[in-house]
Amino acid sequence: METSLPSPAHVEPKPWSSGAATAAGSEENALASSCVVNIDDLRRLARRRLPRAVFDYIDGGAESEATLHANLRAFQEIYFRPRTAIAFPECEMRVRVLGYEISFPVLLAPVGYSRLIHPGGEVAAARAAAQCGTAYILSTISGHKLEDVKAASNGPVWYQLYLLGGREVAEAAIERARRVGYTALVVTVDTAVAGMRERDARNGTMQLLSSSFGAKLPFVPEILTHPRWLAAFIADGGLPKLENVIVPGQGRMQITDVSSALARAAVTWPDLEWIREAWDGPIVVKGVLTPEDARRAVDLGAAAVVVSNHGGRQLDFALPTLRALPEIVAAVRGQTEVLLDGGIRRGTDVVKALCMGARAVLVGRAYAYGLAAAGRPGVVRALEILRADVERTLRLLGCPSVSELGPSYVDFLKSGTRGTAS
Ligand code: GLV
Repeated sequence: METSLPSPAHVEPKPWSSGAATAAGSEENALASSCVVNIDDLRRLARRRLPRAVFDYIDGGAESEATLHANLRAFQEIYFRPRTAIAFPECEMRVRVLGYEISFPVLLAPVGYSRLIHPGGEVAAARAAAQCGTAYILSTISGHKLEDVKAASNGPVWYQLYLLGGREVAEAAIERARRVGYTALVVTVDTAVAGMRERDARNGTMQLLSSSFGAKLPFVPEILTHPRWLAAFIADGGLPKLENVIVPGQGRMQITDVSSALARAAVTWPDLEWIREAWDGPIVVKGVLTPEDARRAVDLGAAAVVVSNHGGRQLDFALPTLRALPEIVAAVRGQTEVLLDGGIRRGTDVVKALCMGARAVLVGRAYAYGLAAAGRPGVVRALEILRADVERTLRLLGCPSVSELGPSYVDFLKSGTRGTAS
């Protein structure tokens, strides 16, 4: 399967990307098991494979994790109104997002520190997205060079922007992204400071990332209980630097500096203006939860907004995204595309989001679990699970095409979700 993709000229072959080495082989064996039938199964594998600090970084949310759970619950509160006794030979799942056709309405969200989840990291995820006919969004917090990530994909790849290190640093990354063919810039606007992730604090994530051996020491024994992850991490060269955040006079930003740099890197609306000057392609504003902010993004020329609370990782008790969606769809009046993330674990979730007005969804944790479990094949498995779910759901709903989904297929008024999309 891998051979059908363009070979990334400047990505060195590594065991994790060839699929031939024994470690990768054993990862694929884990997936072959009939135990992996849904995303939660991949989550279980990820939990087994990763040190707790890394697993909790993916899995956890901010503070009491109210929003993290509310995102999931919002999907569980929606029921379908199927049309029965309908059969059709083909299910149309393709959708156009920012002018690019993707094979089904799921894109890979930016996930920071992916190279710590698996050495293949961002390269493996981009390759998997292309293999499945969808788009990959590369986080600024990437351990792989944006050029290598782009080279791993023959599909659309977008660059997610934080202003880590300031405007000059961001402009340099934007220019690199433009040069190698990234097709959209995703500006995350919900990260005035990093959210308080209590699991990370308890697991000593900051200490483990620091250079002080004394600070790390209490947290090292847990890491040692995951020798396979540790061996791969060491073989990959240890803690990666941020390959796309090049600070003048200092070089690549250290991962240890991310938190403090984020606190100095809030994106504000006026920033959208210089960002638009620097990037002449489509801009996606990610992290919108109110109609007012969605309108503001439209007025500043956003080609798409992502209704997002950062997977419940930033402001705890921020609205669940499915609940925020209908008002935003109504407010933008078709002037921009509306995407959604947060809480997508099943194809039924994808279909519900589309019924409520999203054009497509982004998944983060769902594929990060797969990446942890088995690198690229794990991401492919996550996407295949979601794709099969979406197709089955459409057939059981009696709806032949994602473009025909709408509020009449869901019973959302009774759920407490505001129903302004109908
Ligand atoms: C980064 O964006 C994170 O949520 O950790």
